[in-house]
Amino acid sequence: MISPSSIDQVFETARVEEVIGDFVQLKKAGSNFKGLSPFSDERSPSFMVSPVKQIWKDFSTGKGGTAVSFLMEHEHFTYPEAIKYLAKKYNIEIEETEQSNEQKEQANERESLYLVSEFANTYFQNILQKTDQGKSIGLSYFKERGFTEETIKTFDLGYSLDEWQAFTDTALKQGYNIDYLEKTGLTIVKTDKRFDRFKGRVMFPIKSMSGRVLGFGGRILVADKKAAKYMNSPESDIYHKSKVLYGIYHAKQSIAKEDNCYLVEGYTDVIQFHQTGIKNVVSSSGTALTSEQIRLINRLTKNITVLFDGDAAGMRASLRGIDLILEQGMNVRVCGFPEGEDPDSFAKQNTLDELSQYLESNAKDFIQFKASILFEDTKNDPIKKAETVRDIVNSISKIPDRIKKEIYIQECARIMDISEGVLFSTLAQIDKKEAQEENKKNNNEKKAFEVIKQQSVEKVDVQYILERKIIEVLLLYGNKIEDFEDLILKENQKGELILEPVIHQAKVYEKIFLDLQDDEMEFTNAHFKTLYYTIIDRLNQDTNFELKTFINSVDTEMSNEITTILMEDERYALDDWNRMNIFPKEKINSVAQLVSETILSLRCYLIDQKVKEFQQETLENKKDSNRNILEEVKDYSGLKMLLSRKLSRVL
Ligand code: CTP
Ligand code: MN
Repeated sequence: MISPSSIDQVFETARVEEVIGDFVQLKKAGSNFKGLSPFSDERSPSFMVSPVKQIWKDFSTGKGGTAVSFLMEHEHFTYPEAIKYLAKKYNIEIEETEQSNEQKEQANERESLYLVSEFANTYFQNILQKTDQGKSIGLSYFKERGFTEETIKTFDLGYSLDEWQAFTDTALKQGYNIDYLEKTGLTIVKTDKRFDRFKGRVMFPIKSMSGRVLGFGGRILVADKKAAKYMNSPESDIYHKSKVLYGIYHAKQSIAKEDNCYLVEGYTDVIQFHQTGIKNVVSSSGTALTSEQIRLINRLTKNITVLFDGDAAGMRASLRGIDLILEQGMNVRVCGFPEGEDPDSFAKQNTLDELSQYLESNAKDFIQFKASILFEDTKNDPIKKAETVRDIVNSISKIPDRIKKEIYIQECARIMDISEGVLFSTLAQIDKKEAQEENKKNNNEKKAFEVIKQQSVEKVDVQYILERKIIEVLLLYGNKIEDFEDLILKENQKGELILEPVIHQAKVYEKIFLDLQDDEMEFTNAHFKTLYYTIIDRLNQDTNFELKTFINSVDTEMSNEITTILMEDERYALDDWNRMNIFPKEKINSVAQLVSETILSLRCYLIDQKVKEFQQETLENKKDSNRNILEEVKDYSGLKMLLSRKLSRVL
């Protein structure tokens, strides 16, 4: 259990923009930061982070919350995991009450899988560095491959003893549960027998973007035709091979900085590049690249350079997978190595300068490259050439940017010696087909949040905006004590009615609550109504109410709503305020003023509505010209004037 004071300290220290900045490339946009949503494949940024409010909002999916909820959403951390992660990031010592065996069992399953994996990671490193077998077999193997001690430490390389259950026994002795050992695949359980999956292999831990160990790759050291060269962790609750990239943790900063990512096939390629000095490199670990993996890179850079091993056949086979990268609007370059070399061997034989130079001069734009090899393959075979044209245009059709598409068509026409017209009409055919499919798909899955978004943004409804403003004020300033200037209607010596200012102190939420109660005002928007009572209730109970803690304590749906309210204002309202003239004044100087203004504006609005209603009624029953109604209208008009005077005073 993490002590409450440690949690507080983490909350106070963590900056949402710094935390998210480790995962998403953020650009300054006014007082906020903007970036591409890490939760969808978008091309124009709709992900916003507010350093002032300390929240984030993803307009493409409707998600939003605090630094902690970002980590929970993005890294799939549990709440304690997120707190611990932040504590580590900000060097905060966590006070923890010792876990009993019972608590260990209670800790949720994913947490347990992480713990077992972390334990195994340390264990395998210790075996490599400290045991005779580890040193003589594992360590000497890595040295032979040219890995330095520093590299071995950086990548947490390890060794698993060549014994049937050395690891499993140690883990069990340390109190780790066999279920979790089995679920992470570290132990293979067969009826009553247990085996170490990675027996006798050198170990490569696979880490998440934030550095948590998710799984392992283990390489065999003896030439054995029957055994696989690499053995990998099976899929588990924490390890999904289609969603991870080997090396991403060590590469992420460099990828963003260099604004390019090298993609290689193997563990050793990553490590050797890194050691040579090129750190913006990740590996898909021998499997076909998935869109989830590409998205991991896409958050950091728009540019990717795919590096192929030196055999031409493999290269041709991999070309197809690259369309997926184009689809995400990324710029793809490709680069091969001399026959018989792979990125690992090539980096090992060359200095950083030589390697950089090689990459610089050999990396080619993917489309041009594909066009040229396809042209080579088919120049003497008209039938094959027709197929090829379709193939290349298919790739081009994946590029979202229209201008780029056109340029590529022109380029390819030149390279493949074919008319642009043919290519353009092929493109049109493909585009049309895709559009039809896309349409069908879209109609089927119109997302709920889009409906909400439309309501809130496009329907410019004054009452809606004012209600939202009240919620926003409550969230941001509910607990603040302010001096409110109330204008009391009084009779002066001459017997005239005048407004006399009276200052009284109150908490913002009390003021709002009492004022709205006086007016018997109810929120018309059901979401706002629920939110309003939840917030008021919480403010009432908790004198230390804080937005960040509050957002974390409500369910996801509500926290998404809250962040929508807080951030949509940033995004659209500036405009709206000016356009609709709700608040004639440009800048609000104090919270008290903002509160009074909002409430008065709402009152004025409601009175206007009432007056309109009455006028409508009067029109409808002209007959008796209903005296009462006229009287009421008069009353309301008087009230409106009074309020307007108050409002102009406030302003
Ligand atoms: N791979 C795997 N299982 C295998 C073979 C390969 O998971 N049986 C994955 C590994 O992630 C490996 C990558 O595919 O790193 C590339 O395979 P390969 O080129 O054969 O391995 P190298 O990385 O070149 O490994 P080494 O240099 O150690 O032979
Ligand atoms: Mn290799």
